[in-house]
Amino acid sequence: MQTAAQTFNKIKIKNRSSEKKETKLTNGVFKGRLPVLKDVWDLIPNYKVQVPQESIDLIVEVLKSGWIGGDGPKVKEFETKIAEIVGNKNILALNSGTSALQLALRIAGVSGGEVVSTPMTCFATNAAIAQEGADIVWTDIDPETGNIDPYDIAKRVTKRTRAIMIVHWGGFPCDLDLINKIAKVFNIPVIEDAAQALGSEYKGKPIGIHSDYVAFSTQAIKIINTADGGLLATKRRKDWETAKRLRWYGIDRDKRIDGPTFWHYPIKETGSKMQMTDILAALGLGQLPYLDDILKHRRKIAKIYDKAIDNNKNLKRQKVIEGAKPNYWIYTVITQGNKHRLELYEKLKSIGVRAEEAHRRNDLYPVFKKYKKEELPGVARFDESEIIVPVGQWVTEEKADQIAQVLANF
Ligand SMILES: Cc1ncc(COP(=O)(O)O)c(C=O)c1O
Repeated sequence: MQTAAQTFNKIKIKNRSSEKKETKLTNGVFKGRLPVLKDVWDLIPNYKVQVPQESIDLIVEVLKSGWIGGDGPKVKEFETKIAEIVGNKNILALNSGTSALQLALRIAGVSGGEVVSTPMTCFATNAAIAQEGADIVWTDIDPETGNIDPYDIAKRVTKRTRAIMIVHWGGFPCDLDLINKIAKVFNIPVIEDAAQALGSEYKGKPIGIHSDYVAFSTQAIKIINTADGGLLATKRRKDWETAKRLRWYGIDRDKRIDGPTFWHYPIKETGSKMQMTDILAALGLGQLPYLDDILKHRRKIAKIYDKAIDNNKNLKRQKVIEGAKPNYWIYTVITQGNKHRLELYEKLKSIGVRAEEAHRRNDLYPVFKKYKKEELPGVARFDESEIIVPVGQWVTEEKADQIAQVLANF
């Protein structure tokens, strides 16, 4: 039996460390935090791009087929396979995870209203809300899980709230039962930003079926990538049909009316151009046979780190809530604060390992100044203390043991 690391070695990897780029330091807002991408290119990274030979073969097949654009046979096959993986037949392949979020927000009708959301995420989550014309209401997180605090959600809902946006930090599922219960009380939909959570599970079922809308990303460094891309999963078939029209200008391609010299569609609404292309679906399809191995490997390495951290009272690991099974897209360590974090960064760097912050609290970005400033003690604590360490297929068990040693003795 091959280990996942051996399997991954067969996959052609484009490693950022080979690029040796000079990168400019960021300025301003977050000064005084971790050193920013300058001398890290030779370290074992947190993210890598995977392109197996199967993907290359399938892409060549698509290129030769003549159907290189959107909504062709490879997109349909990709959607069908993802539907099997997440146990939801309402899947749409899109050009990005951000598009999946925007479609969900549009169908939820958030424009002119408010969306309750977490600042502890990729900027894309909250940019999508702003783009769809809603006001963001910042909500606190649980500093142990990194995820939105369900009890704080209940406090932030107003008459103007149109949706609850939640994010599974690093692929660690939120408390979906409780959040959906709260949403039901207020009669508002839940949108899961599951950009990082393909392959994660909650209460024995994959992420992708628990809420009204679930948005995955298949951007270049995700568990499965299509270079750029995303997937929307909807609870209701009707929403899937609407999203399908909106991803293609508003056109329902099944309602084509043919004439001798033309064809047209009875178009009743305007949408955007958000579909995935067959070339990129082929890239994703070629990786799907590796998904189980990828998840197994990450979970195995995570266990090694878990054990080390559990024996060290100076550090904590990101808490897995009851019933959750993360995909470990990233592995988050919770330090005692920025100074402590910087020391851990240096220690790991000395053994050739890149540790870094995953995201920065979004509410401090100047573009979001217009939204009400909120007291968010959980966000403040987590933002100052989180740091991630590599857990992907390129981390061998031997290297994981070395990392674990640092974590155990830090
Ligand atoms: C939490 C989160 N939400 C949204 C996105 C946006 O996804 P995409 O880059 O596919 O648009 C990302 C991106 O990586 C993400 O990590």
